[in-house]
Amino acid sequence: MSTLVTGIGELTTQDPELGVLHDAALVVDGERITWVGPAASAPAADARIDVEGRAVVPGFVDSHAHLVFDGDRADEFAARMAGERYDGGGIARTVEATRAAPDGSLRALLAGRVAEMRAQGTTTVEIKSGYGLTVAEEVRALRLAAEVTPETTFLGAHVVPAGTTPDEYVDLVTGEMLAACAPHARWIDVFCEPASPHAFDGEQARAVLEAGRAAGLGLRVHGNQLGPGPGVGLAVELGAASVDHCTYLSGDDVDALADGRTVATLLPGVEFSTRSPYPDARRLLDAGVTVALATDCNPGTCASSSIPFMIALAVREMGLTPAEALWAATAGGAQALRRTDIGVITPGSRADLTVLDAPSHLHLAYRPGVPLARALF
Ligand code: NIG
Ligand code: FE
Repeated sequence: MSTLVTGIGELTTQDPELGVLHDAALVVDGERITWVGPAASAPAADARIDVEGRAVVPGFVDSHAHLVFDGDRADEFAARMAGERYDGGGIARTVEATRAAPDGSLRALLAGRVAEMRAQGTTTVEIKSGYGLTVAEEVRALRLAAEVTPETTFLGAHVVPAGTTPDEYVDLVTGEMLAACAPHARWIDVFCEPASPHAFDGEQARAVLEAGRAAGLGLRVHGNQLGPGPGVGLAVELGAASVDHCTYLSGDDVDALADGRTVATLLPGVEFSTRSPYPDARRLLDAGVTVALATDCNPGTCASSSIPFMIALAVREMGLTPAEALWAATAGGAQALRRTDIGVITPGSRADLTVLDAPSHLHLAYRPGVPLARALF
């Protein structure tokens, strides 16, 4: 069945040829867009939706989230606002709460979080494991994640769990755990952060990523979140799809990103929630780096599931224009997931559309905290 969506006051296609259209329409047939153009020349369709002058943008692509968990750590947030520093230590609390949760509770919590995201305009979400840290618990997290998204990421190398040494744990992650998890994952990720006593150094991260690649997984890295380090360089060297955080970058890191194909995914909700300096997005864009924006939604460093909030932070705190921030949260997120069928509105792309209760995308940053965005279908 085809549906004509008409009355689009402003249509941000993210297609370089189509650009931004006014008084636009589009046709959706099944899961795909089949036509985009001026409302006045729209073809007939089986059904019709008039969005009455609202802006339509590609569904947001949240390319970095940790949604399979139980428990909250609001007390840590409050402590940080009173001056405490984040070092990854709180992850162990979420591991404990998550291991104790039955499948049914975790599934319901996950479904609630995905629904919360859709209600704010997100139509694709990447979901990581990483709060299980045993073979059985990591497999469980990935199976649950795979019920709601194809973009599943094995993050066994989130932190070293209690009762094991880093070397023993890297052996487990790259051996038995990887073998059990790889069938349920598209990606592998590692928290590469020598500045954290809980996370992994460059050599350990390299071992994890090389093993994941040999098992057929695409690569992603948590890098340079808490301090300068080898994460960004390693991600580019190994051809990772994305390196995420990028809060502390050297000139060499920026040059490597500019010369490579790895997307820099910025997560400003983390800097907000950990009271850290924001990454220098302007420097990255000016150097020609592809930048994505995502939430990192997780119980520790960013409990917000809102891409509009990330767009507002990117504009207000990181020097992006509203159009650049929207691009990073749509087409940029798609590139971070190496997808060409999402993040754009063009004939052939998926019909993942977000409608704004506003005449223009500018309102995403202009009216922060106002629930303007929702997934259309
Ligand atoms: O992306 N950096 C590591 N992992 C998460 C935080 C997880 C947590 O604190 O629970 C992040 O910030
Ligand atoms: Fe993360």
